Amino acid sequence: MRHLLSIDDLDRTGLEQLLDLSERFIEVTHRDIPKVPALRGKTVVSLFYEDSTRTRLSFETAAKRLSADTMTFTVGSSSVKKGESLRDTVQTIEAMGIDAVVVRHGSAGAPKRISEWIDAAIVNAGDGCHEHPTQALLDVLTLRRRRPSGLDGCRIAIVGDVRHSRVARSDVLAFSALGAEVTLVAPPTLLPESLEGWPVSVCYDLDEVLPNIDVLYLLRIQLERQHEALFPSLREYTSRYGLTAARAARLPADALVMHPGPMNRGVEISAEVADGPVSLIAEQVANGVAVRMAVLYTLLGSGGPVA
Ligand code: NCD
Repeated sequence: MRHLLSIDDLDRTGLEQLLDLSERFIEVTHRDIPKVPALRGKTVVSLFYEDSTRTRLSFETAAKRLSADTMTFTVGSSSVKKGESLRDTVQTIEAMGIDAVVVRHGSAGAPKRISEWIDAAIVNAGDGCHEHPTQALLDVLTLRRRRPSGLDGCRIAIVGDVRHSRVARSDVLAFSALGAEVTLVAPPTLLPESLEGWPVSVCYDLDEVLPNIDVLYLLRIQLERQHEALFPSLREYTSRYGLTAARAARLPADALVMHPGPMNRGVEISAEVADGPVSLIAEQVANGVAVRMAVLYTLLGSGGPVA
């Protein structure tokens, strides 16, 4: 693997190998000194053209725990403000001598373009409404840790703003590659115009699916990407698709709830459910660091032992 641009870059075996490697890095992150020398001398740049809290900090923590040097590029204080193009920006950064670039960009396909312009390994940290592969990897890792029998036959409902969600696109690919049965649940206006080729079924009624699922994966309503009114009001959305405490009570006893964050508390998920015992949200964030260590190690490591 030279780059990680899409979950499609990995087959089931590749996914499972990355998850197994992530488990070894979870062990590292639990040590008194959670750091290994694996990427000493390598430089990892985070190039974020869109806002981010957890993804950027998680990648930077992962790089540091592998002893790589890190550089952070923030659009707001860069020459992008003077009109510098994406191509010139990445070629300038590459001239400093770097090994990997972690890219978040508002345009689908930007990480792939960058991979054609420079030699460094490129990791897609979210491109427009296209993909967010490391989010999907941390999601399957989190689920696999809770289900020792694996994801085969696991019934997962992905609920909400699928149309604008790069997380949903990557998750559908990863969940189904590992054998899960995925149902998309949303009003028709929040689904992509075509679902051709998506290995999913669709339901417009959350209350109908609630009693028959193992995992409810909620998506953020992405108001910043919606350029027209796609539902009457947030209150109306919550009344039909929000995971309230009353709806959570109708889930099977051992069902689990996930969300990639950031959450709109009180819209797609109530605070009570988000902070309650069925929620894996904090585990997802914690596992994100180990998954990103595994990705950077696979792309840049010598192939030797983890530590
Ligand atoms: C997601 C993203 O930016 O795509 N957040 C994340 O990386 N955890 C989801 C979102 O913004 O809703």
